[in-house]
Formats: sequence, structure tokens, C-alpha cells
Amino acid sequence: MAILYKSEARRGAEWARVFAEKRPDLPFYIWPETGDPAAVRYMAVWVPPDDLSEFPNLEVMFSIGAGVDQLDLSRVPAHLPVVRMIEPALAAGMAEYVVWSVLSLHRQMPFYLQETRGGGWRQQPLREAEACRVGIMGLGVLAQAALERLAPFGYPLSGWSRSRRAIPGVTCYAGAEELPAFLAACDILVCLLPLTDDTRGMLNADLFARLPQGAAVVNAARGGHLVQADLIAALDAGHLSAAVLDVTETEPPEPSDPVRTHKRIWLTPHIASMTGWRSAAEVVLANIARHEAGQPMDGVVDRSRGY
Ligand code: GLV
Repeated sequence: MAILYKSEARRGAEWARVFAEKRPDLPFYIWPETGDPAAVRYMAVWVPPDDLSEFPNLEVMFSIGAGVDQLDLSRVPAHLPVVRMIEPALAAGMAEYVVWSVLSLHRQMPFYLQETRGGGWRQQPLREAEACRVGIMGLGVLAQAALERLAPFGYPLSGWSRSRRAIPGVTCYAGAEELPAFLAACDILVCLLPLTDDTRGMLNADLFARLPQGAAVVNAARGGHLVQADLIAALDAGHLSAAVLDVTETEPPEPSDPVRTHKRIWLTPHIASMTGWRSAAEVVLANIARHEAGQPMDGVVDRSRGY
């Protein structure tokens, strides 16, 4: 019985230490080393090996990331449980990124940096936090951590998800029919949705048109959520004021891609949050213990929903 890790080797070495300490009976291999493939019961991966039939006794596929779209679920045999990464460091990192983006956009940093670098000194009226409505699409663990940390600033908070959620202090909208009302009340829209067939391309011209004039957008989910040309058109038309993007359709984007140079886009290279190695290894160990005891694991993906 063994576990195979396939992601960044440097972080894998840290996982190996935790496993060696807590489960010395469970050999830990870092891809491309696999040991005897027939002994591999568990995988912890960003993207699985191409040929999973080489691992006939695999029992659980753990995602190293919060998202599982990069796994391509269609390639993972249907009987195998796939488990999302739910661990505190990932949620804390995402909450920091969202708070940083929202504060920067609320305080008009994209405008002011451009202004002062261009030799200007124009001041804009200061909008109170109470007048800056922040909405998050996708209300999972990451969004809930971000909402909790945004609350003390006084922003009116709302959220939208496919199925209804109740979060204290947050106006929650659900389903396609409530999406327009949600969007109309977002001065800053943050996307933390899972990427599925239903959400691909959702940040598009139709959606932007429903946001209030001057709204700003943050995408810290997946590049596939955003139609980049529509974003740039909405920024250039002056309907949207700015965007913060941590993800792009192709990563890295081409040097000539306008997302790299557009004056009102702040781009970061998929660093919004990262799985914390120790907490992640511990979460996977706890799930392995549940699995071995015949109990339900935390974060099992519902294949029909795609997250
Ligand atoms: C990173 O993008 C993740 O899904 O954890």
C-alpha cells in the first residue's frame, strides 16, 4: 500500500516528511518515482499521470488544489472518489488576496498609480465603504473565508451560488433567476466559482452589462471563467473601471496578450493562494484515515456537478 504525489517536487518533499512521521507504514512516492504501481492506493496530484490503468488498485484521487477542473474528471475512472483540497492555509491566502483586491479597487489604486506615475495629482471623491457593494460569485470555503475578513470594513456584502446558501451578514442570491439582481448590486464583483461546463465563459459581455456603471471585477478562480475580449471591451467602453486577474485562459499569457499591458488590469501569475504543504498533508492523512475506517471523506467531488 502506497501514496503517489504528483505536483511540484519541492513541496512534495515537505509532504513526504509529514507522511514519514505520521504514517511510516504508507510509503510516499514523488512522481516520476512510483514504486510498484500495483501498490499505489492513493494519489495526491495537480494533474494525474496520463495512463491511470497502470495503477489498478487506486482507491482515492486527492486534488492538490481547491479546484479539480485541471484533473479532467472524464479521465478518472468513474468509481474512484475525487477529493478537493479543503485546508486552512489555502482559504487564508485566498481571503488575503480578495481583501487586498477589494481594498485596492475600492480605494481606486489602479487609477491613482497610473495618475501619479503619469505626472498627475488628481484626487477623486472618497467613496465610503458602506457605499461600495461587494459581491462574490461562488460561496464555497474560500469565499466564506474572504467574506468573513471583508466584513469588518463595512462593505455591504452579497454572494451568489448555484444552490442557496445562508451566511450571516451576507445577502445570498441563488440560481440563474436571481443572478441579474445580484449583479445589479455589485460595485466590485469577485469570481471564486469552480470551473465547470456551466460556469465556463460566465464572465462575459452580457454579465458585465448587468453590473452597475463603473464596477470592477476580480477573477481569482480560473481563466476559463472569463471572456477576456469582453472584459477589455467593457473596460475600454468605460462601463467597467478596473479588473484584478490572477488567472488567464492560457497560463502564462503570451507577451503580446493585452491582459499584460492594459492600464486598468492588474495581473498576477496565479498566486492568489497556494496549498499549505503541512496543513494539506494533514488534511489528506485525516481523509485517508476516514477512508480506511469506512467513513465519508471531506471534500468528495460530486461528479454530476463537477465540484
Ligand atoms: C489553485 O488554483 C487551486 O485550485 O488550488
